[in-house]
Amino acid sequence: MKNEVITKESLAPKIVKLIISAPEIAAKAEPGHFVVVRLDETAERIPLTLADFEPNQGTITLIIQEIGQSTAKINQMKVGDSFLDILGPLGTPYPVQGSKRVVGIAGGLGAAPLYPKLKALKKKGNEIITILGALRQDLLIYEAELRAVSEQLIITTDDGSYGQQGLVTKPLEEILKTKQVDEVLAIGPLPMMEACCQITKQFGIKTLVSLNAVMVDGTGMCGGCRVKINGENKFCCVDGPTFDGLAVDFNELRHRQRYYQAEERAAYQTEQGAKESCRCRVN
Ligand SMILES: Cc1cc2nc3c(=O)[nH]c(=O)nc-3n(C[C@H](O)[C@H](O)[C@H](O)COP(=O)(O)OP(=O)(O)OC[C@H]3O[C@@H](n4cnc5c(N)ncnc54)[C@H](O)[C@@H]3O)c2cc1C
Ligand code: FES
Repeated sequence: MKNEVITKESLAPKIVKLIISAPEIAAKAEPGHFVVVRLDETAERIPLTLADFEPNQGTITLIIQEIGQSTAKINQMKVGDSFLDILGPLGTPYPVQGSKRVVGIAGGLGAAPLYPKLKALKKKGNEIITILGALRQDLLIYEAELRAVSEQLIITTDDGSYGQQGLVTKPLEEILKTKQVDEVLAIGPLPMMEACCQITKQFGIKTLVSLNAVMVDGTGMCGGCRVKINGENKFCCVDGPTFDGLAVDFNELRHRQRYYQAEERAAYQTEQGAKESCRCRVN
């Protein structure tokens, strides 16, 4: 059935992978596209990146990290449950070109949006070096998938529980000092992407990032996802989410992302409180 969850897998604490039946979206999907999902009539509209798509099977893959009320509800879905609607594919696809050496960098959940781009780059014959970083080993996702599309995969964890100890920026700097690199593609938390851009700027290397501005309609109508690129206003949902990282105004984006923090935290706490009281009643 359309929009139905076909498989569900837990990848890490609070991170779930869903394969969903969505033939029309899978048929048109390209790396860099995202969808906006709604669970039911009263649900918020949630933008999620296509972590993969299989046009022949009519499926899309979404990877969701529970960070608030809506993502908590999505991650409670079971096989056989359906989204009320899934809008997409949305956004401007990532421009996949060939004959390059590309360094892909994923921080935490960033591995999901990075994977389809690297997969497409690999198909075009690019040489790919990937750096995958997370806070700790149990939070690393997509290691096997990223290894399969990379000539070299470097893993970093902040606490040193797996791979090199430290941040992704350390191996990035080492690579740029010793190898000629044509493009860097960095996807992850805002501070990570900003730190990567500060390094690549010194080497004058083209750097693309994927921005998670707060979105409402996802189609360029509401203005909610406005970001400043090279001093010009752009909409993340239609002009992005992939942008030239060296041109992004990270300060403004950081400020805009905090707009609804108090309300979001209150909604999540209410949801968690309701779950706890349900458990008490069952027990
Ligand atoms: C283009 C794009 C692709 C994304 N892809 C993924 C993905 O593949 N997997 C994934 O887990 N998350 C993804 N996100 C982030 C995801 O949309 C948010 O985590 C989700 O909307 C949070 O909703 P919530 O109710 O659970 O949390 P809330 O408590 O409402 O919000 C928590 C934080 O999530 C962000 N957020 C909240 N609402 C939105 C919104 N409408 N649009 C964007 N960000 C929001 C804000 O930073 C906020 O502080 C993506 C966001 C964008 C813009
Ligand atoms: S989400 Fe409304 S303009 Fe982008």
